[in-house]
Amino acid sequence: MGAMIYLDNGATSFPKPEEVYTFMDGFYRSHGVNPGRSGFDLSREAEAMVDETRGLLTTLFNGKDRNRLCFGYNATDALNLVIHGLLGPGDHVVTTTLEHNSVLRPIHQLCLTGGVEVDHVRCDAKGYVDPDDIQRCFRKNTRLVIVTHASNVIGTVQPIWEIGARCREAGIPFAVDAAQTAGAIPIDVEAMNIDIVVFTGHKSLLGPTGIGGLYVREGIRIGQTRAGGTGVRSAVRTHLEEYPYRLEYGTINLSGVAGLNAGVRWVMDRGVAEIHRHEMHLLALLRDGLREIRGVTTYCQDDLTRHVPVFLFNIAGFEAEATGPLFDVDHDIACRTGLHCAPLIHDHLGTTAVHGAIRFSIGPFNTESDIRAAVAAVADIASMKNPS
Ligand SMILES: Cc1ncc(COP(=O)(O)O)c(C=O)c1O
Repeated sequence: MGAMIYLDNGATSFPKPEEVYTFMDGFYRSHGVNPGRSGFDLSREAEAMVDETRGLLTTLFNGKDRNRLCFGYNATDALNLVIHGLLGPGDHVVTTTLEHNSVLRPIHQLCLTGGVEVDHVRCDAKGYVDPDDIQRCFRKNTRLVIVTHASNVIGTVQPIWEIGARCREAGIPFAVDAAQTAGAIPIDVEAMNIDIVVFTGHKSLLGPTGIGGLYVREGIRIGQTRAGGTGVRSAVRTHLEEYPYRLEYGTINLSGVAGLNAGVRWVMDRGVAEIHRHEMHLLALLRDGLREIRGVTTYCQDDLTRHVPVFLFNIAGFEAEATGPLFDVDHDIACRTGLHCAPLIHDHLGTTAVHGAIRFSIGPFNTESDIRAAVAAVADIASMKNPS
């Protein structure tokens, strides 16, 4: 048997480009000091790399001010900063049934204990939210609309521009969870009417785990829900108001930023559109192959034009979770089964009853031969319960 075929890029991308490993290792060996907090050269140089990475990501999102690019640990961390920083007692928030638990749970927590109310807008049968349905939920006290850019379960890309236009008109801050899209498809905060974009470093930006963050458009005020060291103006007793320090607390994950720096540079050199073209070519091959197999049900994969390379399916006769070990042990394929931290969309698809579904998610290093092997593996497993 050959090397493992990795089809779990929606959880985290693997492997990373060689440049990411090399730059992280080299930079941390040569500059593993506290960036910017001390006056010596190495500290200033480390800060310069952090600042360069803010600039790269700001360019990638077409933001205007790199200082409004703040680093946190991951998308979950940044989403919590946004949700807790914008919502208080008496407020209302609109979100969707496509969301990941990193949006659903902080909001649910606030609804239980913080006097917040929520509307979850459903998607249609093809997996897309209607911007008019979002608008219909607006109330006088709506303080946030938060929507995933692409579903991590079915891969559909949501109509962000249209939702953003409605939020802008109503004066409601619009936050986009770009965990599945940053580095995978273009994001333009200006053209797409986005106020806050949240990213994670370890998926399509090809960096390591433990680094993520958000870009906040000018004019949006996120309240501070933490306080601590920023390394500047230490005599001031309150946490700093200005960006990026406003939303950064304590020593930054320097090796994480270094890896992210190399990952983003790799993505920009290759081109987001080119990476997407390659991944979607493989997704179409996968879809066409799986649809030929008796017993396979696929979800929301008819129109691949507004899609990221995430593919959801089930095999008749199997609970999704039972197939994970079969893919792993018998076929050396890594994938993700179950509910994928997004329970409401599984309720919508009717897959909760069978404990979820099987997700194959494609990355830039997958090949046609990986896809052929994956299709053959599914055919083999399906034939156990679905003889022809
Ligand atoms: C759509 C979506 N949002 C948020 C997250 C959370 O990302 P992280 O685990 O990096 O915080 C994920 C991770 O799978 C995701 O797919």
